[in-house]
Amino acid sequence: MSNFEYASAPESKAIANISDSYGLFIGGKFVDPRKGKSFETINPATEEVLSKIGYADKLDIDLAVKSARSAFTKVWSKTPAKERGKYLYRIARILQVRAREFAVVETLDNGKPIRESRDTDIPLAAAHFFYHAGWADKLEYAGFGNKPKPVGVVGQIIPWNFPLLMLAWKIAPALAAGNTVVLKPAETTPLTALLFAQVCQQAGLPDGVVNIVTGDGITGAALVNHPDINKIAFTGSTEVGKAIARSISATNKSATLELGGKAANLIFEDAAIDEAVEGIVNGIFFNQGHVCCAGSRLLVQENVADEILEKLKARMSLIRIGDPMDKNTDLGAINSKEQLKRIHEISKSGDAEGANRWSPECKLPSKGYWYPPTIFTGVSQSHRIAREEIFGPVLSVLTFRTPAEGIEKANNTMYGLSAGIWSDKGAKVLWAAKQLKAGVIWSNTFNKFDPASPFGGYKESGWGREGGRHGLSGYLKSDVKASK
Ligand code: NAI
Ligand code: MG
Repeated sequence: MSNFEYASAPESKAIANISDSYGLFIGGKFVDPRKGKSFETINPATEEVLSKIGYADKLDIDLAVKSARSAFTKVWSKTPAKERGKYLYRIARILQVRAREFAVVETLDNGKPIRESRDTDIPLAAAHFFYHAGWADKLEYAGFGNKPKPVGVVGQIIPWNFPLLMLAWKIAPALAAGNTVVLKPAETTPLTALLFAQVCQQAGLPDGVVNIVTGDGITGAALVNHPDINKIAFTGSTEVGKAIARSISATNKSATLELGGKAANLIFEDAAIDEAVEGIVNGIFFNQGHVCCAGSRLLVQENVADEILEKLKARMSLIRIGDPMDKNTDLGAINSKEQLKRIHEISKSGDAEGANRWSPECKLPSKGYWYPPTIFTGVSQSHRIAREEIFGPVLSVLTFRTPAEGIEKANNTMYGLSAGIWSDKGAKVLWAAKQLKAGVIWSNTFNKFDPASPFGGYKESGWGREGGRHGLSGYLKSDVKASK
């Protein structure tokens, strides 16, 4: 194995200009919450407090929705599509110019490796704005009917695993389609959304088109239940997704829900083994496994299982865990104490139910929230670790004998968000992709994202799609029949 240590290569924090406190972004200005309440956001790698964040309650949500409504009726719905596109281009370019600052703030607030925020989160967020900027003036020609209309004021609630990227997935299509938004970031990762509020000011976006309200689940619920919201777009746990669906069931509100997953990563005997091992590592250890589409259930054809496991363990021994600001770090901090507790709890059920745990030798930092890269073998389909989303760096390994058995096991889940197929044979890949009940399927790769590609799931993984033309349709009222 590796006998030499890399010298540390820390990214500088100097570029991150984090204020001691932030208000709510309503009507184009930062304002204090009506009741003056606040909460702290910390760096999960050090437990250091980064800033005090305004806590929005019902009154603040009402102000934000009113500001979004007024911006919608008076300004944004009357702004020519071409002009809307220009604002989105401007935002995309500012994100690129300020990319390093955003990457540093994201890593400090979230705990993810700087390599990932720098190379994945921020460039993809900018790409979403560029992509949707191009759509703004072409909606009439895209099969949505003659004159598709925006739905109005959209409430958007996002999680902590890809804070800025999830914001981009929500705000870019909403604005391109002519809606105004009230967005609530997750309570553990509000900073890049607040930085984004500054970008909206910098871009000269009309006041009230984007409003950012910070708070927790109670704040989120107040947004969902506000009577003047036309649509809810949510990414997060299936449990909260179901609660949102119940709350809006007797209203006119529409919803897109991007929920959990327990993706199968299927390795067939004819796969290129070394590449597959890289794909397994990327599938489950990317972003500490805090990924709804993570390849958290590895399904290996039995006759190559020993070879795969041996190579996987050797590869896992090379994973560098530690300071997220170090450019060599592969696995960063777990986002919160609560999430770490959840990972421990579900993983312990794996031990109790008789699966075999393995982790490479690694030293975890003494401060902050950490979990070693872990695999469980001897997992059966009834085990909790094979059924529930762990949302951490923990992989459950199962085997299959025939392709048909592999597919059956892969589909034996209440989720259906994503899947991976590894095989050298194109015909087998196409056959397997057709059988798999998953919204996104990767072949001979994993965790690849593009704004043009629709993303979303079957069953309890959610409703609707985000990205591509499909994602835009969720932000438009169109009557294709009437336009004929
Ligand atoms: P969560 O679903 O509670 O939080 C996601 C967002 O929803 C946050 O902004 C939160 O403040 C908000 N929220 C919470 N309760 C709400 C309510 N009643 N109404 C409206 N908004 C509400 O997820 P949490 O607790 O952070 O993580 C729990 C588990 O959920 C994770 O272990 C993971 O399995 C799953 N999860 C899945 C995600 C995905 O991308 N699909 C993202 C985050 C979590
Ligand atoms: Mg934080």
